[in-house]
Amino acid sequence: MKRTYIAEALEGKNIDKEILVKGWVRTRRDSKGGFSFIELNDGSCFNNLQIIVDADLDNYQDEVIKLFPGSSIAVKGTLIKSQGGGQSVEVKADEVKVYGFCDPDEYAVGKQRVSFERLRELAHIRVRTNTFGAVTRVRNKLAKATHDFFQERGFYYINTPIITANDCEGAGEMFRVTTLDHNAIPRNEGNVDYSLDFFGKESFLTVSGQLAVECFACGLSNAYTFGPTFRAENSNTSRHLAEFWMIEPEMAFADLADDADLAEEYIKYLITTVLNECAKDMNFFNKHIDKTILQTLAHVNESEFVRLSYTDAIDILSKSGQKFEYETVWGNDLQTEHERFLTEEEFKKPVIVTDYPRDIKAFYMKQNDDGKTVAAMDVLVPKIGEIIGGSQREDDLQKLDSRIKEQGMDLEPYWWYRDLRKFGNVPHAGFGLGFERMVQFVTGMENIRDVIPFPRTPRSADF
Ligand code: 4AD
Ligand code: MG
Repeated sequence: MKRTYIAEALEGKNIDKEILVKGWVRTRRDSKGGFSFIELNDGSCFNNLQIIVDADLDNYQDEVIKLFPGSSIAVKGTLIKSQGGGQSVEVKADEVKVYGFCDPDEYAVGKQRVSFERLRELAHIRVRTNTFGAVTRVRNKLAKATHDFFQERGFYYINTPIITANDCEGAGEMFRVTTLDHNAIPRNEGNVDYSLDFFGKESFLTVSGQLAVECFACGLSNAYTFGPTFRAENSNTSRHLAEFWMIEPEMAFADLADDADLAEEYIKYLITTVLNECAKDMNFFNKHIDKTILQTLAHVNESEFVRLSYTDAIDILSKSGQKFEYETVWGNDLQTEHERFLTEEEFKKPVIVTDYPRDIKAFYMKQNDDGKTVAAMDVLVPKIGEIIGGSQREDDLQKLDSRIKEQGMDLEPYWWYRDLRKFGNVPHAGFGLGFERMVQFVTGMENIRDVIPFPRTPRSADF
């Protein structure tokens, strides 16, 4: 018999028919009347399916009453209209097959509520909780919506490399990739001789797919990458991971204003999709995680995002009368406290800050005519702060070269990137959306470690 998923069973189309369901027991209650109720979940949707097991079933005494949370079973039975409240349909079991029992004394996520911190240490089974099931379904939907959004607009999905010799952000926060023997590192005049390493030069895990995706935009017009990125920054915050996923679209013949418009449209598309297609999961987040999340998302969707220059942002922050830990002087980067003030207090909607000081931004950003700022943008949203970073790209080769050198980097590894400016050069722009920050934003989850299957952070790379 073909298995029915619980999501389909709950639609109630097969009333009075026999179905086969499989999943993990969430709870079992035994009634005095000689039967048990089992709440079964198979991950296909948020809700459980209630199973009624009569005590006269063959294996009732030997097996059914030994089913504790976490046990895996298959149930054959009739889908009936529910007698009790709380659910519309339930299954009256004719047969219960046990795949695996689960010891209630050892199984951590069975009985009482377990903190998110503790669940991080149990990342292999935390997916069986309501919260992580819901996070996983929403995350999955956001990934699908991302591909839909860009595919509908003619962007090509490019698989950019994970291993690279380039530091895209120039921040020196890269993990090294090497096969050299740590106990016998070859040296040449005191320096490590990377010519003997696997790739014949220093190599790293990428911090961004941008430089590679720029090549494809400068030939196919519109492209995007959606992949893992790695940053060896020692940030122990609720918004930083050492391994995170990023979506990076890139458009040829586009400027910063086009870039900002695409970012706004994309964020709204993601929100709309999740609100429409993950209603049960979103109701759970609204009830148990952040009681304002549905309202916030609806409001963001209706709002026109503010466009504000960095210089005006500094002005607003300085005159706000608000006490900040970090000074708000022109030239300093905006901190999360400043970003959140702008989007949560000052404008109460997403804000796109543009034209940051040249000296605090990456080498590839287009220099503005004022000689001080670059055509950069950060999209700021409530509770998170920066969710997107992007820019128009420097297409003047001389200016690009001088920025690379000013930042103390060699021109040589960027020879191919510089070539794009020599052969059929075009204005182009793009951005990167931190995927986990987006999952956090739509679910209201406080900590970024709780929206990625297996978080990698300083001193933590289990599982
Ligand atoms: O602002 P970032 O560093 O921009 C880039 O990497 C550009 N190359 C993107 C581009 O223009 N194609 O990072 C982009 C976004 C941030 O806005 C943030 O949402 C996320 O990536 N991000 C992180 N997310 C989790 N953990 C970290 N350590 C992150 N660092 C950046
Ligand atoms: Mg940034």
